[in-house]
Amino acid sequence: MRVLAIESSCDETAVALVSCGPEDFRVEASLVSSQVELHRPFGGVVPEVASRRHLEVLYPLTEEVFRRHRPEELDLVAVTAGPGLPGSLVVGVSFAKALAYALGKPLAAADHVKAHTLAIFLEETPDFPFLSLVVSGGHTALFLVKSPTEHLLLGHTRDDAAGEAFDKVARLLGLGYPGGPVISRLAERGDPRKIALPRPMLESPDLDFSFSGLKTAVLNLVRSGRSFETADLCASFEEAVCEVLVEKARRALKALGLSTLVVSGGVAANRRLRQKFLEMGKEEGVRVLFPSPEYCTDNAAMVAVAGYFAYQDSGPAGLDLDIHARSLF
Ligand code: KG4
Ligand code: ZN
Repeated sequence: MRVLAIESSCDETAVALVSCGPEDFRVEASLVSSQVELHRPFGGVVPEVASRRHLEVLYPLTEEVFRRHRPEELDLVAVTAGPGLPGSLVVGVSFAKALAYALGKPLAAADHVKAHTLAIFLEETPDFPFLSLVVSGGHTALFLVKSPTEHLLLGHTRDDAAGEAFDKVARLLGLGYPGGPVISRLAERGDPRKIALPRPMLESPDLDFSFSGLKTAVLNLVRSGRSFETADLCASFEEAVCEVLVEKARRALKALGLSTLVVSGGVAANRRLRQKFLEMGKEEGVRVLFPSPEYCTDNAAMVAVAGYFAYQDSGPAGLDLDIHARSLF
């Protein structure tokens, strides 16, 4: 099945064309138009600005895909229906509906969080059941993935997502936006043991996370007037986030007796995080898989996979499809 996918849930507009079979996914095109420069002066995503940019660039991106692949050859139009910014989702879903109607093709609704997990199928074929950790700017959650469409929530963040914590800490250190890439770059020159920071929720027996206390600890340090090297603080902060994520995932793997872990979402592009997860995998005899960095951050190829599986499982979405801003889990 050749699936054209649309992603517009936050600040990336993306269109992809993926050939999907049950065990074989081939990306024929994956275009992402990032809005980072547009939102940078504001230090974060401005929802109305995001919606308007999606409105401007969705058609040109799709046209670029159609220059190389004939629209008649499509079998399915997939779109992210949520979670995300409502105004941004509405733009993508309306566009996908119009396209499906005009081409006479079925529509499929994809869940953005499931899509992050399912991005792994673009490059690997993990056996079910497996553990999934989705770590992005909007989500930090552990799932027991029983099948492509059955993702059971095991734990999630009670406040900030891990990526959000990177972004907020970068902002309070005056490092710019988005925070993840800039903090991880500075962290490479710092000492992760130099500054003691809390490991929130590490001792609690559940599989939930919390990152707002870590951000506050950084804020308190900055306000205290104590001198420190920014690189050391970045390295210590990154280490604290990574340690909590790795240890909670280790606990879930052991409790459920699982031998495969998929780590996805924008924060999974972090090099230190990947390294620590691979070390843990070796210690525990667990296969740890990550999508390539380009499929960790928001993209439409992962939406094609999620839409394909949703369509196989429950058929087409109606042209009265609504969006959902909040997570369905
Ligand atoms: O998955 P994504 O593109 O969008 C959401 O669905 O949220 O994730 C974006 C998040 C941002 O918070 C960004 O700071 C973070 O991923 N991020 C990183 C890295 N690259 C992106 N965080 C840590 N290290 C990175 N290298
Ligand atoms: Zn995302």
